[in-house]
Amino acid sequence: MIAKYNAKITGTGHFVPEKILTNADLEKMVDTSDEWIRTRTGMSVRHVASKDEAASDLSYHAALKALEAADLKPKDLDMIIVGTISGDHAFPSTACILQKKLGLRNFPAFDISAGCPGWIYAINIAKQFVENGVAQNVLVIGVEILTKITNYKDRNTCILFGDGAGASIISRKEPTDISRIIDSEITADGTHNELLIQEAGGSRMPACKESVKKNLHTLYMEGNKIFKFAVKSMYSMCDIVLKRNNLDVTSIDWLITHQANMRIIDALGRKMKIDTNKVIVNIEKYGNTSSATIPIALDEAIREGKIRKGDLVLMASFGAGLTSGSLLIRL
Ligand code: UT7
Repeated sequence: MIAKYNAKITGTGHFVPEKILTNADLEKMVDTSDEWIRTRTGMSVRHVASKDEAASDLSYHAALKALEAADLKPKDLDMIIVGTISGDHAFPSTACILQKKLGLRNFPAFDISAGCPGWIYAINIAKQFVENGVAQNVLVIGVEILTKITNYKDRNTCILFGDGAGASIISRKEPTDISRIIDSEITADGTHNELLIQEAGGSRMPACKESVKKNLHTLYMEGNKIFKFAVKSMYSMCDIVLKRNNLDVTSIDWLITHQANMRIIDALGRKMKIDTNKVIVNIEKYGNTSSATIPIALDEAIREGKIRKGDLVLMASFGAGLTSGSLLIRL
């Protein structure tokens, strides 16, 4: 397709719930230790949604911040895409609920289920709608409340997840502006879909007494098998966009990977041979917020003045599906 226009990220925002779950709290819940969690994952604390908070609530607060940063009003939006696997309900989409919360109607709003790369998948889609001239300002959210589908008796998974939302506005750019979404690659290998799964609650196994008793509506993960896929797939996704744009890793100003495990982030950095000072990490503060990790880290780094206009930023993620994706932008 020959693009009519270019797309850029014009504003970002994030929001995390107030309540904090520390490694010390987890020590009281399962057979684990602060030392094990820190050395094996790099995590210290995570934010946890309250009983009354749902994905659209976190998204709403993040969206308002992104709109303000983009100097836009809700009425300027003409599409909403939400990347999530823990939306308010199985249906309607969290995007439609968010559209109502923002006081909007009569334009497309939909969710993307792509696990942790959900935000990258959604940006990839938004980019195409903006480039072909169909949309002018798309609100893209990565949001997750995985703590509500986490089994707090399973030490293999319960130490990992936190809640949060990251929002971004994707807009048609002026021809003179250097900022641009340069490229994105997304893929999936469904042959391993059983490695990270919420078994019950869908049409395969509707929720029933038995499924609740066996905790089948909570998240199941074979962590060490996913670990191997993580480094390989993110490396491949980054390599594809770098090669396609004739770029060397030394030209990248910042790398933001999915914040799932510090050892995965380090291993990818080593494999890519990127300067460690260029790798953005916030895993110790939020844990794994799935599709929200990258948009939260991007927004934080912009607000801290680390990532500036004109910087070349490479992002990559992997997750349930198994899915993976990368995104290259000039901010
Ligand atoms: O974002 C979604 C994508 N998912 C991921 O990115 C997850 C990727 N995987 C990981 O991050 C890591 O595999 C984990 C952090 C989940 C686990 O680390 P690991 O180094 O792969 O540990 P392991 O599963 O191989 O388990 C090693 C040992 C086991 O004990 P034995 O069998 O060697 O005696 C586990 O039972 O560590 C034990 N273990 C724990 N010990 C203390 C597992 N979880 C814990 C824990 N505290 N919380």
